[in-house]
Amino acid sequence: MVYRKIQNTDVSISQLGFGCMRLPLTDIYDPTAIDEEKAVEMLRYAVEHGLNYFDTAHPYHRETSERFMGSTLSRMYRDRICLATKLPMWHVKSADDCDRLFKEQSQRLQTDRIDMYLLHALNKRSWKTVQEYDVLSFLDGLKKKGKIQYAGFSFHDELPLFKEIVDAYPWTVCLIHLNYVDCDYQAGLSGLEYAYKKGIAVQIMEPLRGGKLAQRVPREVQEIIRRTDRDQSAAQFALRWLFNRPEVCCVLSGMSSLDEVRENIEFASHDHRDTISDEEMKLYAEARAVYRKRTRINCTQCGYCMPCEQKIPISFILELYNDAYMYNAHDDSCRAYRVFIRPENRPDKCTQCGTCEERCPQNVPIIESLQEAHKSFTQD
Ligand SMILES: NC(=O)c1ccc[n+]([C@@H]2O[C@H](COP(=O)([O-])OP(=O)(O)OC[C@H]3O[C@@H](n4cnc5c(N)ncnc54)[C@H](OP(=O)(O)O)[C@@H]3O)[C@@H](O)[C@H]2O)c1
Repeated sequence: MVYRKIQNTDVSISQLGFGCMRLPLTDIYDPTAIDEEKAVEMLRYAVEHGLNYFDTAHPYHRETSERFMGSTLSRMYRDRICLATKLPMWHVKSADDCDRLFKEQSQRLQTDRIDMYLLHALNKRSWKTVQEYDVLSFLDGLKKKGKIQYAGFSFHDELPLFKEIVDAYPWTVCLIHLNYVDCDYQAGLSGLEYAYKKGIAVQIMEPLRGGKLAQRVPREVQEIIRRTDRDQSAAQFALRWLFNRPEVCCVLSGMSSLDEVRENIEFASHDHRDTISDEEMKLYAEARAVYRKRTRINCTQCGYCMPCEQKIPISFILELYNDAYMYNAHDDSCRAYRVFIRPENRPDKCTQCGTCEERCPQNVPIIESLQEAHKSFTQD
């Protein structure tokens, strides 16, 4: 495993981190049904092979990820790893909420010190909440009392706000959405460089665009990857683009099987910094153009929008809609829609309450997109 230093500290972490948002399930329709036996096996393999950074959060697996991590780590490895979780800003309606949520998270994680504590999914709205309830002083207090070691934030908004937040506090880490397709999206590459220069350790989420850059890769992109003359999978092609950048401290991967853990750890055991030539960068640009042309809706199936009061399986429907364009497979998506989505859970039953859009970190116009998908799948 290759380790990278967290700037302004004497701590180094593995360049591959474990994102605990997509753990294996015993029932694919129930995000709380973590397959503990498989997940423990993956976690054990990861630590035994040098991975030492784990990232969870209050809402992951409908609030069961922290609990699972707590019960597992209380039995093993707690002192060998750096554990990160995040304050769910959307639940902060008063200064007391910060305290209450932090206590709840410490209990779930069964620890009296959280190594890395991030403000979750900062955007214009939640940044106002941070200021209104003086959440930055709250972080100072936690650090002073030794309840957290380092503070950071994850981000989902535009670059100017990102810079404002970077400049507002002595953050140790920040977590941004970045991959070779979404290189100028939200904070993007400019944000990466900006934060790095300010001494912040930058971590990456959605490195494989939620898996879309690694699985069922369009034939045109497979052909481009072959032209790199490297023996590599699509996942490695995407991870290489991130590991190539010295400004990246840690790439979080939401692995959901032992095979993925094995493959990604093996890849992260090599130093890929500055290994991509200008010629090869042109191939990334070609692959980016293919994905951009074929992506209808910018949904990465992170599931933050769920649950829906009407039980509409939002991310599944948006995935079917995207797949129809990505693979020229409208008929397949249409069939799957009619077979798997019950009439009472279809978008025409949406009450437009807007909760899903408030929760979406990618600002997807979910209500409109669902209607579009429904129309396209039901018209003959
Ligand atoms: N703070 C925030 O707002 C926020 C938002 C999003 C994510 N995050 C954090 O960032 C982490 C990473 O983001 P992400 O989970 O979206 O990561 P990602 O790496 O873009 O996507 C993860 C998916 O990629 C697939 N995958 C992983 N390795 C693979 C391999 N070697 N070959 C083929 N497929 C592979 C798996 O799909 P299958 O499951 O289909 O196998 C997995 O579920 C999250 O887990 C979470 O901890 C934070």
